[in-house]
Amino acid sequence: MILVAGCGYLGARIAGLLHEAGRPVAGITHSPESAARLAAAAAWRVDACDIGDAASVHSQAARFAPGEITAVIHCASSGRGGADAYRLVYHEGVRNLTAAFPAAKLIFTSSTSVYPQTDGSVVDESSDAAPDKETGRVLREAEATVLARGGIVARLAGIYGPGRWFVLRHLLEGRASIEGGDGHGRILNQIHRDDAATAIVHLLDQSGGGIWNVVDDTPMTQRECLGKLAARFGVPVPPAVPPNPERKRGWTNKRVSNAKLRAAGWQPHFACCLDALDGDPDLVASILAQIEAEAPDAVMRRKNVVLIGLMGSGKSTVGRMVAAKLGFRFIDTDQLITQSARCSIPKIFEREGEAAFRLRESAALRSLMDCEHCVIATGGGIVTQERNHPLLRRLGFIVWLDASIATLHRRTAGGHDRPLLKDDDPKAKLQKLHDARQPAYRKLADLRIATDELSQDETAYGLAESVRVHLGGQD
Ligand code: S3P
Repeated sequence: MILVAGCGYLGARIAGLLHEAGRPVAGITHSPESAARLAAAAAWRVDACDIGDAASVHSQAARFAPGEITAVIHCASSGRGGADAYRLVYHEGVRNLTAAFPAAKLIFTSSTSVYPQTDGSVVDESSDAAPDKETGRVLREAEATVLARGGIVARLAGIYGPGRWFVLRHLLEGRASIEGGDGHGRILNQIHRDDAATAIVHLLDQSGGGIWNVVDDTPMTQRECLGKLAARFGVPVPPAVPPNPERKRGWTNKRVSNAKLRAAGWQPHFACCLDALDGDPDLVASILAQIEAEAPDAVMRRKNVVLIGLMGSGKSTVGRMVAAKLGFRFIDTDQLITQSARCSIPKIFEREGEAAFRLRESAALRSLMDCEHCVIATGGGIVTQERNHPLLRRLGFIVWLDASIATLHRRTAGGHDRPLLKDDDPKAKLQKLHDARQPAYRKLADLRIATDELSQDETAYGLAESVRVHLGGQD
């Protein structure tokens, strides 16, 4: 059985991966509360144990048969703590775990912050790793203990992933900066959480000990990374500032190489963090959700009009008219999907199924994050994916075009381009979709327009005027 010591952001993912692969796994986590929370959600065993406390680790070891634990993965973190917390979790943690599980293989997740280089050079596992910050020195001591007993040290780059990507979050909140490096800033060495997890599982199966860097293929300067992200999200490139020597892990500047791990057969799913913007369907949405939990509307939302509502509510027709009135660009997410799939919507449903269509729809929405002054008509089902909600809100002013089922039925009758209405009783189907989706339309809408009694001209006029008032108030 493999013991994952520290089931936080990375550890829980590693344990999950091992479990999915059918490998026996147990986890320990610092507090009884998080043990209870994790145990309720996870299919693997989780106990509370303080790895900084020898007695706690020994009583944990006594819960397993002698020799039952064949490998221990130390991926506990010190949270926000300083050098003292570091010492307890890393130095004492490693000592306690090796004493309690003397026969087990040990993997210690360290950090690429132990490389102190500031000259932008490429560093590999043989490069100098004598950090000048106290926190880095503690990591090195723990590493030395692990290596002395034949264990594996995984030096992890900056972990990002769903719910956690400070680079993007700070950029969108307007508090990012490009720190030193002659205006290029530090080099960012990053790794997606899921790739970090597959790397650790890969290392578990390597024979022998040693040091391994765990980083994606594409270290980038802050200017390069933030510049590309800024373009994707239509926000200004952050200002250049002098380096801050007080950074907890120091100001360093180096390109960490993953050549050793790559040569051992590991491949990252996301070679570059920019790939994850497209490839991880939850990444951007989760960061936006975090931002909107704290930010005022003006920080969060852009100057577009987003039309939601059931099929036949007039999003495309009215949307075009509103765009013409306001001098905005008109965009239709269904059209973006058919263009990128080079295939009609009924065909996508038929060949790939609705779930695949929804992923395409979400990707189409993510591709619009730089839009400004656009009218965006969305597919009626876009609200069914919770992950789309922060994206829709980020895009701007959300208007729900509503109509009775009878009206919607009349407007959609005879069409062949809506696979969900290919039904013996399309009216009943519309009613069902309406009942299922109405709460989401209601929750998301800044404005609802009941269109039954209005001509398209009237709807477009009213909508355009409301947008003028709304955006006028924002400027
Ligand atoms: C759908 C609505 C359609 C299209 C797809 C699925 C839905 O867009 O995205 O057929 O789930 O309601 P319109 O609302 O523009 O017809």
